[in-house]
Amino acid sequence: MRKKIIAGNWKMNKSRKEAKQFMQEVLQQLPTELNNVEAIVCAPFVHLSLLAEMAQSSPIHIGAQTMHFEASGAYTGEVSPMMLTEIDVTHAIIGHSERREYYHETDEAVNQKVKAAFAHQIKPIVCVGETLDQRESGSTKSHVANQVKQALAGLTEKQIRKTTIAYEPIWAIGTGKTASSRDANDVCTHIRKTVASISDEAAAQGVVIQYGGSVNPDNIAELLSEENIDGALVGGASLAAESFVKLVEAATDA
Ligand code: PGA
Repeated sequence: MRKKIIAGNWKMNKSRKEAKQFMQEVLQQLPTELNNVEAIVCAPFVHLSLLAEMAQSSPIHIGAQTMHFEASGAYTGEVSPMMLTEIDVTHAIIGHSERREYYHETDEAVNQKVKAAFAHQIKPIVCVGETLDQRESGSTKSHVANQVKQALAGLTEKQIRKTTIAYEPIWAIGTGKTASSRDANDVCTHIRKTVASISDEAAAQGVVIQYGGSVNPDNIAELLSEENIDGALVGGASLAAESFVKLVEAATDA
């Protein structure tokens, strides 16, 4: 059985004090072990070291929201995978639609980053998803399949099995509009088929596929009840400790 993965994406939010308070509250409220659920907090770079220290010997994993693909070099302003593993960061979101849109991250860069993540033992959460125009013109599945193929190009079957794919329709991010659980599952099912087509059935069955886009404690149970939705990548509703804990608890119950 695939485990459920709940990842909070703080984006560019929280002061150091707020980050610390969040983690204190979450650690108080969550059990010391989670059964078949992985909970990840993806925070701004400057908070990662503090959060990783606080989360030591807890069930919470710490993730970055992006990273560079080189281990070091003349890339002003960037952070390398090597720097992340050194401070016990275990996951990284790769190719979030905001990175693709505002920082011109291409499918090729996403692929380089995914490969770099594996080279440094970081687990990638690869984001894919369509715009409203693509949805309305009926090209959602072909667009998403293409993003998946390019992101995973050149990976081994074992690496693909360890990849998390987050299906995030761009029109649903931060808008309060969630895809219906049926529509979301339909695309997630297509993603799994796409993985089977570029690798094999074992990889397709192993890969965790999250849904993201206005997920909150009220709609998560329905989304997770779908066959091919194995978790959620959550922005706004992951910012408050109480709501993050509820999301993790919903995954535990699913
Ligand atoms: P949202 O963001 O939950 O605020 O819609 C999701 C995301 O961008 O990962």
